[in-house]
Amino acid sequence: MRMVDIIAKKRDGGELSKEEIEHFINGYTDGDIPDYQVSSLLMSIFFNDMTQEERANLTMAMVKSGDEIDLSAIEGVKVDKHSTGGVGDTTTLVLAPLVAALDVPVAKMSGRGLGHTGGTIDKLEAVDGFHVEITEQQFTDIVNRDKVAVIGQSGNLTPADKKLYALRDVTATVNSIPLIASSIMSKKIAAGADAIVLDVKTGDGAFMKNEEDAVELARAMVSIGNNVGRNTMAIISSMSEPLGYAIGNALEVKEAIDTLKGEGPEDLTALCLELGAQMAVLGGAAESLDEAKDKLRAVIDNGEALEKFRVFLKNQGGDASVVDDPFKLPQAKYLFEVKAEESGFVEEIAAEEIGIASAMLGAGRQTKEDEIDLAVGLVLKKKVGDRVEQGDTLAVIHSNSEDIKEVEQKILDNYRIGSRENKIELIKQVITE
Ligand code: URA
Ligand code: CA
Repeated sequence: MRMVDIIAKKRDGGELSKEEIEHFINGYTDGDIPDYQVSSLLMSIFFNDMTQEERANLTMAMVKSGDEIDLSAIEGVKVDKHSTGGVGDTTTLVLAPLVAALDVPVAKMSGRGLGHTGGTIDKLEAVDGFHVEITEQQFTDIVNRDKVAVIGQSGNLTPADKKLYALRDVTATVNSIPLIASSIMSKKIAAGADAIVLDVKTGDGAFMKNEEDAVELARAMVSIGNNVGRNTMAIISSMSEPLGYAIGNALEVKEAIDTLKGEGPEDLTALCLELGAQMAVLGGAAESLDEAKDKLRAVIDNGEALEKFRVFLKNQGGDASVVDDPFKLPQAKYLFEVKAEESGFVEEIAAEEIGIASAMLGAGRQTKEDEIDLAVGLVLKKKVGDRVEQGDTLAVIHSNSEDIKEVEQKILDNYRIGSRENKIELIKQVITE
């Protein structure tokens, strides 16, 4: 098989066979096929797309390019959730104990990552003593007994995706539905998921700025999942403002506790019920999404979801008393209120820029070596659609430095206040097949 023939076939709009796709993925991973040939193929895919079968084969070829996590020692259907990224997205912290309270196993492997705040592990480490350095045997035992655990990423997962993503970045081929969909799905499948729930964000703070693109991406991923034997569902949700009120690590743990108590922000709660319902249905804990939502509301109301969070923290060395006393979480030295300079309605909160404001305080990392300040971040007091009077507090800055002028200005610049009483539709679509 010659790479040049594979490129020519895709250039002319042909459909690549499973063998051809495996040849290019394996050859590229091993360093036998050079960047310039793969670049050319990527651009041909960008213009000529891929069929459902090609997408499924590409995904599985990338899965097989490296290690695959074997979760078969854990009983039940292992459902994983993936979000295409947002600002102040506290859903994982809420969903892990919430869904586990319905006896759906949550065996989460997580990384630290870069961004406006830390990843799920960083956030959980705001709880004194909590750690993810547990053995695979401990991980399996805990999930079988209590249905929820988080372990740090290990193994060499999807090396083909790592190499391809870096190449796409410099060849203007990131923004291609078949390439994005296979990239995301390969990572979830290699991490051992039997079933997958996707939260595809759309809006200012999202990768997919408009809704049609988000729907197309979601459908592509659901179709790949179902084609390779992993039941997959998706939600299209709005990222036209940050999710919930809190953006930061300890601040989001507190927000997750509030939500598990039934006292969380309306939008975060609604999104967690929607995603949790899909996880519960795929995990076999309910027949329908409506039934699943009723069950999730019940474990919030009767305290079982909160109790599950305590058990989860304790199992991994964490001080579970933070659930009852959130002031035990790291606290920033200074709190500053950002005041509205005019009256009206909040029309828009530019999510991306607000996320950057939080990162400027030290809540996130720009390079892998950066230290995160777990205590700092922002708590929004006004959201889109809210009425504000001049002098009202828009947001509270939690900072360990007294110099917050730049952050304050960034917040003011990115709260648009006007005369329209906008209403954000948070959940735009639910895609179940
Ligand atoms: N995120 C991914 O993991 N892969 C892509 O291709 C794009 C976004
Ligand atoms: Ca939040």
